[in-house]
Amino acid sequence: MYPNQRNRRLRQSPALRQLVSENQVTCNDLMLPLFIAEGTQVKDPIASMPGCYRLSLDLLQEELKAITDLGIKAVLLFVKVDDVLKDNKGTEALNPEGLMQRAVRTVKTTSPDMVVMTDVALDPYSSHGHDGIVEEGKILNDPTVEILSQMALSHAQAGADFVAPSDMMDGRVLSIRTTLEESGLTDTGIMSYSAKYASSFYGPFREALDSAPGFGDKRTYQMDPANRLEALSETLRDIEEGADIVMVKPGLAYLDIIRDIRDNVEVPIAAYQVSGEYAMLKAAAQKGWLEHDAVMMEQLLAFKRAGANLIATYHAKEAAQLLA
Ligand code: PBG
Repeated sequence: MYPNQRNRRLRQSPALRQLVSENQVTCNDLMLPLFIAEGTQVKDPIASMPGCYRLSLDLLQEELKAITDLGIKAVLLFVKVDDVLKDNKGTEALNPEGLMQRAVRTVKTTSPDMVVMTDVALDPYSSHGHDGIVEEGKILNDPTVEILSQMALSHAQAGADFVAPSDMMDGRVLSIRTTLEESGLTDTGIMSYSAKYASSFYGPFREALDSAPGFGDKRTYQMDPANRLEALSETLRDIEEGADIVMVKPGLAYLDIIRDIRDNVEVPIAAYQVSGEYAMLKAAAQKGWLEHDAVMMEQLLAFKRAGANLIATYHAKEAAQLLA
């Protein structure tokens, strides 16, 4: 009670504030999502994500050197697949010489210490832009899980440290874990997109990969933004099935979910600050309406305060530069 307690005593100087600070963001927390494209010398800007590009493998090597120097420890790979290679079953996803598999090998040879995580989902490979096989307008669960497991195996065989299923089919973590174990890939980890919402914040990403659903939406597999208990249920199931790291996505609008999960599980939690969040800050900063770097760091800190251990963010390079 005042005046015995004066909260401002602890805020008097930078040193005091730092001594009592509860959370901090460091380079060790950041994962950088990267978009990969076919070709050479390709650095294709993504209009709604200023500062992000689709990179060909040769330029990926240069990018890797830059981000390694910045102290970034993990990349999350996404590939832009040519339309002619897309079909309903995502056949190309299993090609051992596919773009993802080559990208993994490129990262591992260029930056052996970089942790490589791969996106496991059919949408970039699907002629329907859905995360699963489509039959009569429905997304099939179990046949999709089988393909996802083979896809994860193929990424692991190419050298991925972690596979990251982002599809939200039921049972895919168990099936992927079993497939990896049976193939002797016992050290390949699974970062599961466990609480992934059917969000409108993914728009710029779908532009980047040309992967918007051709019909309908993703509400029969991604979660209803109204739900909170369901996020915990999804996450607990994924941990039982073998997820080493769980994820909440999108980020800022779902900080309450991160905290719920933090209070209930013991595995590391990743937050994904998604493309729409990135686009909002870039747009506001371009207009001079927000101070870019300060808002960016405040947002990243908010993920840590909510309870995230890792943050997948398109700001990773900018943040690492500021922190250096
Ligand atoms: C698809 C996938 C999406 C994102 C990551 N993996 C989009 C979607 O579910 O439609 C979104 C990432 C972002 O918006 O930054 N499996």
